[in-house]
Amino acid sequence: MRSISEESNLNNKKILLRLDLNVPLKNGKIEDTTRIDKILPTLKFLINQNSRIIILSHVGRPKGKQTDDLTLKPICEDLSYKLNQNIKLVIENLSQINRDNLFENNKEKIVMLENIRFYSGEEKNDVEFAKHLSSLADIYVNDAFSCSHRAHASIYGISNFLPSYAGLQLDLEVKALKKITSEIKKPITCIIGGSKISTKINIIKNLIPKFDNIIIVGGMANNIIKYMGYNIGKSLQEENSDVIIKEIFSLSEKENCKIIYPEDIVVGKELNGIPQIKELNKITSDEMILDIGPKTIQIVQNIIDYSNTILWNGPAGYFENPNFANGSIKIAEKIIENNKLDKIYSVVGGGDTVSLLNTLNAIDNFNFVSTAGGAFLEYLEGKELPGIKALN
Ligand code: 3PG
Repeated sequence: MRSISEESNLNNKKILLRLDLNVPLKNGKIEDTTRIDKILPTLKFLINQNSRIIILSHVGRPKGKQTDDLTLKPICEDLSYKLNQNIKLVIENLSQINRDNLFENNKEKIVMLENIRFYSGEEKNDVEFAKHLSSLADIYVNDAFSCSHRAHASIYGISNFLPSYAGLQLDLEVKALKKITSEIKKPITCIIGGSKISTKINIIKNLIPKFDNIIIVGGMANNIIKYMGYNIGKSLQEENSDVIIKEIFSLSEKENCKIIYPEDIVVGKELNGIPQIKELNKITSDEMILDIGPKTIQIVQNIIDYSNTILWNGPAGYFENPNFANGSIKIAEKIIENNKLDKIYSVVGGGDTVSLLNTLNAIDNFNFVSTAGGAFLEYLEGKELPGIKALN
């Protein structure tokens, strides 16, 4: 994969830059600008190289139809403000646009094409659409790791028609992910949470052969607690998960990977209820498991202490209610403590975990925080991402 940072001659070159500016919008207002903020170094780099930048992105899932609420206008304005640069949003139909009329004059340095998913050719990876996009520029840069699991025209097809490079952020993200999948410093531990074990089974199966410990927390762990013969009351649970759990334990035994699950928990009668610490055999039928208990926190902290690499995906409990956020907070604090001492390399990903870290204002205290949802998970499952394959 060639990184655009290694390219020496970008002066006046037209660069089609695929970004993931898919940020949450409500009534035309951006609710979380993390993805925009993260991409600023790439844009500043290209501006300093005196390139002419054509930004490509989607927001939402308009499915080939133009819709007012999914315009990139607020995002374009936010980016213009942050870069202190005028960025024109090109709202004309792309079929009317060509290389010579895209930039109005020589002074114009950045333009943004309107939501690329307004065009049906994008998701269909239409060859003619990709070809037309490519005709607008000299070079293609993918700096949208979080979209790289989509074989769409602006991610995949386009690389057939232009010299293609990885952007600065994509490069960083892939390097960070390699440290937890191929260039591992052991012992390596994964802390995995979330509500459904079936959605994470492929990740767990892919990680078991490489990891020393897999700590299962959150709603997913309820199924294991039940599998071990305990009553889990009204806790979140998934039907028919026993087969999956059996598979996890037998594979982990074969591969010498330790599976850790809660030894004590915090229950509540309702999601907004009062917390109560309990042993596993004391859960009553009207209670639900909403966090890990102090004994489990201690076990997790000890494991973090003897690990050199940590991957964290999914909170330990129902952190939206501060009564049940303690487990997740204690995990975050321990990773941060060891990170500050340079004892571990830590990668965090997944929407819920990132919002937890945002509420704790701790996003900068980890070696790498991935804002990619689906792409992050598919990478961990060991799948080849089309956008990355196209750059190789
Ligand atoms: C994301 O938010 O994960 C990316 O922007 C991809 O969006 P999608 O799931 O709509 O393809």
